[in-house]
Amino acid sequence: MGSKQGTGAPLASRGWRSGPIRSCSRTLDGTQLCLISGAGPNRPTATTCLARVRDLFDLDDGVVYLDGNSLGALPRSVPGRVAEVISQQWGRMRIRSWTEGGWWDAPERVGDRIAPLIGAAPGHVVVGDSTSVNVFRAVVSALRMTPGRTEILCDATTFPTDGYICASAAD
Ligand SMILES: Cc1ncc(COP(=O)(O)O)c(C=O)c1O
Repeated sequence: MGSKQGTGAPLASRGWRSGPIRSCSRTLDGTQLCLISGAGPNRPTATTCLARVRDLFDLDDGVVYLDGNSLGALPRSVPGRVAEVISQQWGRMRIRSWTEGGWWDAPERVGDRIAPLIGAAPGHVVVGDSTSVNVFRAVVSALRMTPGRTEILCDATTFPTDGYICASAAD
């Protein structure tokens, strides 16, 4: 895991722009994310908007944490939600959680909420297993779809486990 942390230098010195907001969209948890445009009086700025987003995460004062791919910062809402899922859905509902708790549909349901954030259409994003499991599935599936192909091209500086998976699939 590579984490990028730093002390809280002014946002502007870190390349952030601040200005009047042109339009906003909502993240998964309903928070607003905003586009900035030219001048406009008495409107919230992108920095105030981002400050509100930052408050959703459990971060120490002064820490700027930008690593979202390996292990993102902990959203404040997650510990309570995880505790509720464990005690109520696993603990009380047990196997009924697959249907009544919505576990079966979760990959598509969550994928549909991510889709607009990355410009994808509904039904085109599925949330699955860990990165390594999905890389393995994608590589093996691609190999099986193209039996005549004998080489896998893999970036030498890729995440090490991605390289091991490619090497193993090539054997
Ligand atoms: C590109 C890439 N490959 C592989 C991994 C490792 O994933 P996993 O934790 O599923 O082994 C990561 C984790 O951040 C990653 O970013």
